[in-house]
Amino acid sequence: MITIKTKAEIEKMRLSGRIVEGALELLGRNIRPGITTEALNKLAHDYIVGQGATPSFLGYNGYPKSVCISINEEVVHGIPSNRRLRKGDIVSCDIGAELDGWQGDAARTFIVGEADEEVERLVRVTRECFFEGLKFCKEGYRISDISAAIQSHAEKHGYGVVRDLVGHGIGRQLHEEPEVPNFVSPWARQRLQAGMTLAIEPMINLGTWKVWQMDDGWTVKTRDGKPSAHYENTLAITEGEPVLLTCSEELA
Ligand code: MF3
Ligand code: CO
Repeated sequence: MITIKTKAEIEKMRLSGRIVEGALELLGRNIRPGITTEALNKLAHDYIVGQGATPSFLGYNGYPKSVCISINEEVVHGIPSNRRLRKGDIVSCDIGAELDGWQGDAARTFIVGEADEEVERLVRVTRECFFEGLKFCKEGYRISDISAAIQSHAEKHGYGVVRDLVGHGIGRQLHEEPEVPNFVSPWARQRLQAGMTLAIEPMINLGTWKVWQMDDGWTVKTRDGKPSAHYENTLAITEGEPVLLTCSEELA
């Protein structure tokens, strides 16, 4: 069932969304060679709790940490550890926070110092994919219009669009209906309606779209070992333009 949120409920989601955004900015400021992904996890955890919110991922289906940090060929759901970042790594940070019963979910891919030009382009284009999809986040369009915009922008650059994981509705639950694939799927054609809140999250690979899951039960990696980038925001569909709930700066 797709739940439609009132304006007041969307305002509450804006508050949890701001906390997610703040935590991502904090990680972005702290990413540097030598820092461990566990140190980043702790920074984000303490920030979220300090804001009076709860890290949504901690304990979700048994997930052991507060954020997901996925490096290079890791696509999503990397588990923070004592691994240290190195110059040239790309680091996808995915964060969820719940405040007052409402969820926010967003991800950014950061570059440690500088990376190869083709990898930097992957990161840039993955972000662009989100904003291509956003153009169709309006009443009257369908989920599949968002999917098609993301897919065609990625494939125009020769990239692989991950099939195994998708965006999603969000609200009181981290994952609600509908699914929002980053590729056109005959199963995801619902019409958009004001009051729908969605987490749209292109996961784009430099090479093949194919992925596999590691024995830790979480980490998803590209099959060919080439890098992958992730960019996600929570947003609300309205009668006019969509409202981004986890991204106040980047459009300005
Ligand atoms: N952030 C992921 C998503 O966008 C969910 C993380 S799964 C968890 O859907 F188990 F790590 F929480
Ligand atoms: Co999500």
